[in-house]
Amino acid sequence: MARAALLWLWAALGPGLGAPRYRPVWDSLDARPLPAWFDRAKVGVFVHWGVFSVPAWGSEWFWWHWRGEHRADYERFVRRRFPPAASYADFAPQFTAHDFQPREWARLFRRAGASNIRYGLYHSLLEWFNPLYLSDKENGFKTQNFVLKKTMPELYDLVLKYKPDLIWSDGDWEAPDSYWNSTSFLAWLYNDSPVKDTVVVNDRWCNNCSCRHGGFYNCADKYKPGTLLAHKWEMCSSIDKLSWGYRSNMHIDEIMDIASIIEELVQTVSFGGNYLLNVGPTKEGVIVPIFQERLLALGRWLDTNEEAIYESKPWRVQMENSTETVWYTSKGAVVYAIFLTWPQNSVLKLSSPTPSPATQVRNLKEKDLMHF
Ligand SMILES: *[C@@H]1O[C@H](CO)[C@@H](O)[C@H](O)[C@H]1NC(C)=O
Ligand SMILES: *[C@@H]1O[C@H](CO)[C@@H](O)[C@H](O)[C@H]1NC(C)=O
Ligand SMILES: *[C@@H]1O[C@H](CO)[C@@H](O)[C@H](O)[C@H]1NC(C)=O
Repeated sequence: MARAALLWLWAALGPGLGAPRYRPVWDSLDARPLPAWFDRAKVGVFVHWGVFSVPAWGSEWFWWHWRGEHRADYERFVRRRFPPAASYADFAPQFTAHDFQPREWARLFRRAGASNIRYGLYHSLLEWFNPLYLSDKENGFKTQNFVLKKTMPELYDLVLKYKPDLIWSDGDWEAPDSYWNSTSFLAWLYNDSPVKDTVVVNDRWCNNCSCRHGGFYNCADKYKPGTLLAHKWEMCSSIDKLSWGYRSNMHIDEIMDIASIIEELVQTVSFGGNYLLNVGPTKEGVIVPIFQERLLALGRWLDTNEEAIYESKPWRVQMENSTETVWYTSKGAVVYAIFLTWPQNSVLKLSSPTPSPATQVRNLKEKDLMHF
């Protein structure tokens, strides 16, 4: 009798429950499970490439600084290198991509450790100087001409045309979700878009969204929570510490060394995050050798240690200061202890694991059993 009643209940509710429909409110959108590929991937490459790669000076915020607080420095730079009265738009024809070799980029990113490459798109909601945006802003974001005429059509077009597996939203910070229409876009993306089952998004969808709503959390750029988070997150970092876009005035002291890159990756993965490492190609489409070298060094480290990174889960303890600082990850019954400097006298003492007589200890580098 009880069983029959339950079956009936299923028959009544089942069809309606078959395909979850997300509603354009955060409670509903935030409840969507993150597609599993993202947590497994752990390592990604971020690329900032655009018209800012033409002046290639200062940072990808070139236009903003030129028009704003560093006006004099940028004006002097432009006067020396470009025809008189050059505007930002006048840089565009020099964004030639003459040496762009997408297959070479893909090969480099694979060798850097982005193993099973999926393709994501960065998209900025705001545009600094778009007249429609500026007039909406002047109206206290009570009008939506920019969003309805430009942002939304562009976002839908990006998804329909390029079918990305990830949308890395940005430029959200000046206006509320009601202005950006972001919940309405995400409901469509999750329910009806061609990528509804695979697509992953971040959290930059409104001025109060970051670290609160959306898919995985970016929170701030180069975010380091320093603890295990309950929600999936990502740390984005840049090999050039001062810029995301290519700039010709880079100095070697401003380039991340490989030890710092590996430490960021390991710390991020131990705390449950994904690591997204940025390079800025030149206007011709060249990823300069210093960036290639760092990416390849990361790839070599991953060749040896991939088992401790890809598809891993955080462990009961994330880090300890034993003889050396040790970071932990895990996979099923296996615990990985990652240390980034070789311990004195080659003795590493671990205080967190509780071994049993059956416990085996293996060095991923040597691939053989060790004594303990
Ligand atoms: C914007 O959001 C409103 C309210 O949710 C919705 O009615 C409208 O269709 C949305 N427009 C676009 C272009 O997304
Ligand atoms: C942002 O969200 C938090 C938590 O929901 C809320 O307490 C706060 O008032 C919001 N701030 C703004 C500016 O809307
Ligand atoms: C380990 O040492 C580092 C650096 O001194 C410190 O920041 C961190 O909090 C320590 N962690 C633990 C778990 O003791």
